[in-house]
Amino acid sequence: MIRTPSLPGALACLLLGACTATPPARTTPDATPPAPTYAENHRPQFHFSPPAHWMNDPNGLVYFDGEYHLFYQHNPRTSLWGPMHWGHAVSRDLVHWQNLPLAFAPDTDGEAWSGSIVVDERNSSGLGTDGIPPMVALYTAHNRAFKAAGQTQPERQNLAYSLDRGRTWRKYAGNPVLPNPGDQKNFRDPKVAWHAASHQWVMTLAEGDHTAFYGSPNLKDWHYLSQFGSGLGAHGGVWECPDLFPLAVPETGETKWVLLQSLNAGAPNGGSGAQYFVGDFDGTRFTPDPRFAGDVRKQGAIWLDWGRDNYAVISWAGIPATDGRRIAIGWMSNWAYARTVPTEQWRGAMTVPRTLTLHRLAAGYRLFAAPVQEIATLHGTPQTLPAHSVNGALALDVPPDTVSQADMTLHFDRPIGPSRFGLVFSNARGEELRVGYDAATNRYFSDRRKAASTAFSNSFASQIDTAPRTATRPAITMRLLMDAASMELFADDGQTVMTETVFPSEKFDRVSLFSEGGGVGFKGGTIAPMHGIWPAPPSRNPR
Ligand code: FRU
Repeated sequence: MIRTPSLPGALACLLLGACTATPPARTTPDATPPAPTYAENHRPQFHFSPPAHWMNDPNGLVYFDGEYHLFYQHNPRTSLWGPMHWGHAVSRDLVHWQNLPLAFAPDTDGEAWSGSIVVDERNSSGLGTDGIPPMVALYTAHNRAFKAAGQTQPERQNLAYSLDRGRTWRKYAGNPVLPNPGDQKNFRDPKVAWHAASHQWVMTLAEGDHTAFYGSPNLKDWHYLSQFGSGLGAHGGVWECPDLFPLAVPETGETKWVLLQSLNAGAPNGGSGAQYFVGDFDGTRFTPDPRFAGDVRKQGAIWLDWGRDNYAVISWAGIPATDGRRIAIGWMSNWAYARTVPTEQWRGAMTVPRTLTLHRLAAGYRLFAAPVQEIATLHGTPQTLPAHSVNGALALDVPPDTVSQADMTLHFDRPIGPSRFGLVFSNARGEELRVGYDAATNRYFSDRRKAASTAFSNSFASQIDTAPRTATRPAITMRLLMDAASMELFADDGQTVMTETVFPSEKFDRVSLFSEGGGVGFKGGTIAPMHGIWPAPPSRNPR
């Protein structure tokens, strides 16, 4: 926990104004979280979710000294968005997570909104001691009181540092390190990285309808470099949580820069989502690749994930060069209904960590995403599904417990005619989720109109969500991760991705292949049951 006095809940609410933005709490109103069992209905078994109460964006993703850190936007008092703290968990394998005490709480500077962490190996900040490189967090201090006092807009960037592997944090005395110029209403979510070619730290910051870049020699003194994005890409809402990083392109041997850019609202299937841009960054300016920019103009935006539940996608800093992966994770929800999804003890889960790769296709540069390979360590004995031609429905003989906790890969022939085919997950209550491919429109789809137990939102179950297929090879491959309340579709090796939450009143325990409007050749596949990552709840009758 940061070493400044934290405000008691009610006072923080009054001073920070968060009480007005927050609907009445339905869960434990005090700071003592209910003991998690991880066996609650809808509780993910192999995705990260907070032990209790509200979670949104991943923050401060950094690998250091054998640990992957996952901090997150957290309200430790209720399962509703509210005065923002940073929760904290660490993992040694990107699969199993250990919950740690809160890192940051609201204080006199404001709430701790999203931000990032770097390891200052060369001690450029001078904050390290005795050869210990500091972990340096840059985050947005959000304080509505500033505005009320007529001083400035509420958001500015603060620095805090840790000398004990992220367990305790000290606030820098010279905060804010990047003050609000006075007129920037949206001025938040700093993502910092070392830019070797220009020998400086670069901060990527969301500023409403664009992202700005700032440079610093020491993480403490920042100067403006440039901005990008006004007038290009999706602008159905405010830009948030940017991330800028280089990726090698295996097809050409070049390195290109990717700017991930979340926005709320304006996603392709509604609500919040993450688009991206590919180009070059020279230490001052991000210049989009002309062809990519042309496609963005034609299509409106190019999306990392077409499902409705992958937001604030951010990548880990500090992954060793010997590993070389760019690993990202997102908040598996959507601001359109995040506050009302039918979980009570906790609200919010992360996607599985995903490896991002950049490819040069005939259509230009495109980002692929696939679950990190470590996920396979959770596989139970995989079951092989034999090839079959499908016309209508074909029930698969899969153990009921496996259906909604599985990693499955399915191969289909090129469809003949305008068929729609895929998988239907269901339960005895008639609730179902359909996921598949529609040959007539050349789009993948997720139909969760009957996949939620209650009408907790007007938009959640209002439509079939779709994603264009961009792969050109005839055969179709779909990999699906199912986990209680979520479905992650990685089609064509991660070229098209859809992440969708579901809230059936009972777990889906049966699964069928289906094909409508024509037949399809199912070429076979595998289903691996997934082990859970949480300890078993204590036995009720210990002996
Ligand atoms: C994105 C976001 C960020 C902000 C944080 C507040 O989901 O709105 O822009 O820092 O959440 O919790």
